[in-house]
Amino acid sequence: MTLKACIFDLDGVIVDTARYHFLAWKRLAGQLNIEFSEKDNERLKGVSRMDSLEIILELGHLYPDKRKKEEYAALKNKWYVEYICSMTPEEILPGSIEFINEIRNAGIRTAIGSASKNTPLILSRTGIEKLFDAVADGNVVKKAKPDPEVFLAAAGMLNVKPDQCVVFEDAIAGVQAALNAGMMCVGIGSREILSKAHFVVAGLHEMSMEKLQKIRK
Ligand code: G6P
Ligand code: MG
Repeated sequence: MTLKACIFDLDGVIVDTARYHFLAWKRLAGQLNIEFSEKDNERLKGVSRMDSLEIILELGHLYPDKRKKEEYAALKNKWYVEYICSMTPEEILPGSIEFINEIRNAGIRTAIGSASKNTPLILSRTGIEKLFDAVADGNVVKKAKPDPEVFLAAAGMLNVKPDQCVVFEDAIAGVQAALNAGMMCVGIGSREILSKAHFVVAGLHEMSMEKLQKIRK
């Protein structure tokens, strides 16, 4: 099957927003007297906002009701949005724009496949909306990764079949979601952590059209 599309997770693949998520969650954890470390933050990568909150509350052995949880999640998001509102194009991870332009020039279609409801804001703050033919994000899907919904939605928007897509992901749950969608997956990060991916690179700066074609073989 020929390669027709590349689907990119956003946080940790194209932009480094993990530290802003961390700062906002840390602030909430602080208010609730919960110890929350950068190591704990690793568990939140690729995980939806409400599921992330559940993990943090569990660390503090707190079990508030639904209304309180929604209040906490809204507060965290308010702080997070404040951080990402001051993002600039300089925060795009190295090599991302070059690689995406290279594949687009070669006729490959591109999409975002992210759990984040803040995807439109991040794309506009960093000025990269035009690099993508479609955006599937937390505003259009219900089920969180490792469910394949977000990647299948992206493929649907691009009008391509799952086995014609390659996904780029930095989170374990995201790699699993790509596999569950029946897509090839390039892990962004460590080979040990993303062992289920078909191929792993440190970042998009290590990617090229030539490498992409080799992965498909
Ligand atoms: C991405 C990030 C997660 C985040 C999720 C939801 O998957 O990796 O850390 O929790 O998006 O983001 P949101 O911006 O909607 O809170
Ligand atoms: Mg990610």
